[in-house]
Amino acid sequence: MSDSSPARAGGPPTGGLIDTPLLCGYREPMFQSRLDELARRSLLRRLRTIDSAPGAEVELDGRRILLFSSNNYLDLAAHPRVTEAAIKAIRHYGVGAGASRLVSGSLGPHRELEERLAAFKRVEAALVFSTGYQANLGLIPALAEDRDIIYADRLCHASLIDACRLCEASLRVYRHRDHAHLARLLQRGRPPRPALVVTDGVFSMDGDLAPLPELSKAAQQADATLVVDDAHGTGVMGPEGHGTVEHFGMEGAPLVQMGTLSKALGGMGGFIAGSRDLIEYLVNRARPFIYTTALPPAMAAAATAALDVIAAEPERRTRLWSLRDRLHKGIRQIGFDTLESRSPIIPLLVGDADLALSLSERLLAHGVYAPAIRPPTVPDGTSRIRMSVTAGHRPEQIDHVLEALTAIVASDGRLRESLRGGRRDGTKTKGRKARLPSP
Ligand SMILES: Cc1ncc(COP(=O)(O)O)c(C=O)c1O
Repeated sequence: MSDSSPARAGGPPTGGLIDTPLLCGYREPMFQSRLDELARRSLLRRLRTIDSAPGAEVELDGRRILLFSSNNYLDLAAHPRVTEAAIKAIRHYGVGAGASRLVSGSLGPHRELEERLAAFKRVEAALVFSTGYQANLGLIPALAEDRDIIYADRLCHASLIDACRLCEASLRVYRHRDHAHLARLLQRGRPPRPALVVTDGVFSMDGDLAPLPELSKAAQQADATLVVDDAHGTGVMGPEGHGTVEHFGMEGAPLVQMGTLSKALGGMGGFIAGSRDLIEYLVNRARPFIYTTALPPAMAAAATAALDVIAAEPERRTRLWSLRDRLHKGIRQIGFDTLESRSPIIPLLVGDADLALSLSERLLAHGVYAPAIRPPTVPDGTSRIRMSVTAGHRPEQIDHVLEALTAIVASDGRLRESLRGGRRDGTKTKGRKARLPSP
């Protein structure tokens, strides 16, 4: 840009890009060199554009492909009853909530949804946040004060990690799903300081389940509060889809549940479910509830309709689990390590990031989209393909994925070698000090 350009002279921009030579010490070449370094390590991430609802089949870059990456487990994102509820709410309330609920009040769909969520989770009350991420960011720092201790599973979700990092409380990390390790750490934490134990219910990248009965017992023995992030369990786990707590027959146990509206419920938003006092406290102390604009009313109305569909159409869950078992069994037969997956999230462990990336690209060449998940989302040496199944898939689509995987493995010696090698070091945590992954 020349010195006489309108932007530099203080005039209005001409409509093109405005040159920003310096960003307070962050120089453009620095971004490029950091991106180059990520690419060199096969860790560069790119956005793709999908031009249809996130169903089983989508349009990606002008091609119809099978989507095996979405958390739209019950295929509700474009369900007519759910979309109609959103449209009706938009007509009545408009698209935005306008302000934080403490500033300009709750809207009808917020209150209705919270009552429904409390009933769904069989607790006294619930509070809705704009995203699940914000629900965790609101809950944990509101509960944990500076002299408290938080005990976190090593593989808990990034939003829980970030929530822990926002607190002044001390953080102890227990080995993945290792309740005995947690119990030892809790024992060492005495004399008792208020303590939180935080875990995913269904782990988002491994698809395995937290041993909630054992974690709850260890927490209760140490007078600690158990927090379960059930983002991936809500709508999916348990006889009625109420979540991982229902799956373990633990409804009524003393714990706090977080959930999302963005996965099985097909929309957007998050929530905390627990006692009435907890919810009232969060209204006063959860900063991501207080200092942000409320969830759009249409999203609240859509989630309420999704809860109706979950109750009215249990066959969606039946179909989901049958498809999931078909895919899981086939993937195991091909020789992939699927860790301890017990959910519609199925990891295909390959180890190296570049191998995971190339497997993902080769699947795409067969018309199947399933992303490579690499560090820092998962520990070093445990890169994988993460496949997720939805009730919208058909058995023949599952079979197509299995045929594609069989063909790819048959033609790729390095991949075959990696399957023979079994699990990489990163998944073995016994005997090591557990740490949270760095961002
Ligand atoms: C375990 C877990 N918790 C929380 C979240 C955040 O939820 P949301 O996408 O609604 O912000 C996610 C999303 O990926 C998740 O997997």
